[in-house]
Amino acid sequence: MKAFVLSSSPRRNGNSSILAQSVREGLEESGHEVEFAYVDDFIRFFLRDCRECRKPDGECAIDDGFRSVFFERYLPADGFIAATPIYWYGASAQLKAFFDRTFCYYAASHPRSAEVTGGMLGKRVGLVLSSEETFPQVSASIVSQVQEFSRYTRSTFVGVVHGIGNARGDVYKDPLDPVASARRFGRDFFTRHATDYQLDTPRSGRVWG
Ligand SMILES: Cc1cc2nc3c(=O)[nH]c(=O)nc-3n(C[C@H](O)[C@H](O)[C@H](O)COP(=O)(O)O)c2cc1C
Repeated sequence: MKAFVLSSSPRRNGNSSILAQSVREGLEESGHEVEFAYVDDFIRFFLRDCRECRKPDGECAIDDGFRSVFFERYLPADGFIAATPIYWYGASAQLKAFFDRTFCYYAASHPRSAEVTGGMLGKRVGLVLSSEETFPQVSASIVSQVQEFSRYTRSTFVGVVHGIGNARGDVYKDPLDPVASARRFGRDFFTRHATDYQLDTPRSGRVWG
């Protein structure tokens, strides 16, 4: 399978990036094809008003690297793993900008809108977090956002790896060993049991085996 791991902290050797690299290693161990990118390498601008910004042929006029990453790495991927530090109880602005900028291409006014929409549907989605604080609600809004993104794109939200740390590399010292969890998450990413039932979803009474 193809996976796209997106690291969104400005600290390349920081905690969320360490976890993202560990997910990448796990995916590779299981034989998957992995693309890895740092948002700062390709996003230079926020979303603009499409009505004023779009070119006459419907193309996005924002001139940075988003387009090529979106078409060449994100859309073809079967799995998407977003890594972010928790900033102000949410995602980094970099990661939010990534989600926002997809609008330029799935909007009906883009000539490849139908193809793009199709490519955005049905992925497996994972979330990698690092934060200083430990209380469970610290991640509530970002987890909820990515879960809704997954629902909206008819994707499967596979789960979350969350490491605790503040200084660069702190996650290595987290006694719950999120670095190992991230590696395991990567290894199992395409096979991990992930469910979101409705009352009438057919299923057996047992979860395992
Ligand atoms: C702008 C900013 C906002 C932050 N907000 C929070 C927060 O709301 N809760 C928290 O637990 N940590 C917060 N932190 C700490 C980071 O989440 C923490 O240091 C994290 O490990 C950084 O990840 P990184 O090394 O990948 O950049 C914040 C840090 C910064 C720079």
